[in-house]
Amino acid sequence: MNYDCQVNFYCKRQALHRATRDISRAIASHAGVIERALLRRKISSSPMKTLFYRSHFHRRQFRWRPSRITTHLHHASAKNDPSVIFVDSFVDRWYRSPKARTGREAMSVEGKVVIVTGAARGIGQEYVRALAAAGARPVAADVSDCSETIDLAKSAGGKALGVKCDVADASSTDAMVAAALKAFGRVDALINNAALYGGLRGGRFETITEADWDAAMTINVKGIWNCCKSAVPALRAAGGGSIINIASLAATFGTPFVLHYTTSKAAVIGMTRGLARELGRDNIRVNAVAPSAVITEGTREFFANKLDKALDVVKSGQAIQRNLQPSDLSGTILWLVADTSAFVTGQTISVDGGTVMN
Ligand SMILES: NC(=O)c1ccc[n+]([C@@H]2O[C@H](COP(=O)([O-])OP(=O)(O)OC[C@H]3O[C@@H](n4cnc5c(N)ncnc54)[C@H](O)[C@@H]3O)[C@@H](O)[C@H]2O)c1
Repeated sequence: MNYDCQVNFYCKRQALHRATRDISRAIASHAGVIERALLRRKISSSPMKTLFYRSHFHRRQFRWRPSRITTHLHHASAKNDPSVIFVDSFVDRWYRSPKARTGREAMSVEGKVVIVTGAARGIGQEYVRALAAAGARPVAADVSDCSETIDLAKSAGGKALGVKCDVADASSTDAMVAAALKAFGRVDALINNAALYGGLRGGRFETITEADWDAAMTINVKGIWNCCKSAVPALRAAGGGSIINIASLAATFGTPFVLHYTTSKAAVIGMTRGLARELGRDNIRVNAVAPSAVITEGTREFFANKLDKALDVVKSGQAIQRNLQPSDLSGTILWLVADTSAFVTGQTISVDGGTVMN
């Protein structure tokens, strides 16, 4: 059996012993699910150990996962012991047998730390909102201010960390991952969503300027490479994880008159496949998601006064006759973050209403 368990809790110094005992007892009562001895070892070697010794408590906050274990910990350690004032327990990937992966827990993204780039608006913002609503701990990274995204996460009942980051700059992506580790102690997934899209100038291939071509490649391709280089050590340290690269129908279909964009998204698919083969041994899966035209600010900017016509053309090529909304993508993203997709890697999943069929 292969376990990866961690329980973090904040309590008053004098309550440490009692809280540890209560949590151990709670876990012991689920002996068939988790081996107590292993969990005890994980607690004592947890990187969050120093939190045990904080003499002052943090604000009262309980965020409960659907898992029976965390619920039990809640009762044993928080409710019955008023001196334990904050319990943040996540028991994820706790039982990596195929049997456990079929349960409700395995579907869950609860407690997972997920970095989403390009999260200040549009689709990235929706990913952060959906992840926060599902109990994950998203990190919203963008060159622009993410405070609107953080507010959305809050109103969805969760919370998110905002980080300024330029994916084209390797030192900036390193700092993004460092901020996630500082805040949450681990990284479980990376969603490479940032791209030069809304601000792109289209046209026949020979009219695209060299500067525009280079900018698309720098942000859309090199940006993902930078983020992966920064995040993979943290994913390895977490025992594995999920990288999701946002490609596009532009690549799977071959959209004309934006050759720099189309080419950059085709590169994303190639990078996904090569990286999946390199990182499989680290239990890191790498997949791409290829949406068709989604109604976002970026799409409005991109098509400008041709928006309605463009959306009609896209719709007419789909099996499902309506345009894609950002929320249509959330289910696929949550599934790829969750352990349920643990054996899916190197794939490009089209969320395009049935435009391109493989
Ligand atoms: N909207 C669509 O129709 C559509 C379709 C298929 C694929 N996609 C892809 O989905 C993703 C999001 O699309 P969107 O419509 O939300 O785009 P958008 O243009 O609205 O948002 C992109 C976000 O990325 C950020 N960003 C740009 N450059 C960055 C950089 N160097 N570092 C960090 N952040 C940066 C922007 O500030 C912005 O918040 C993109 O990868 C896009 O190519 C979009």
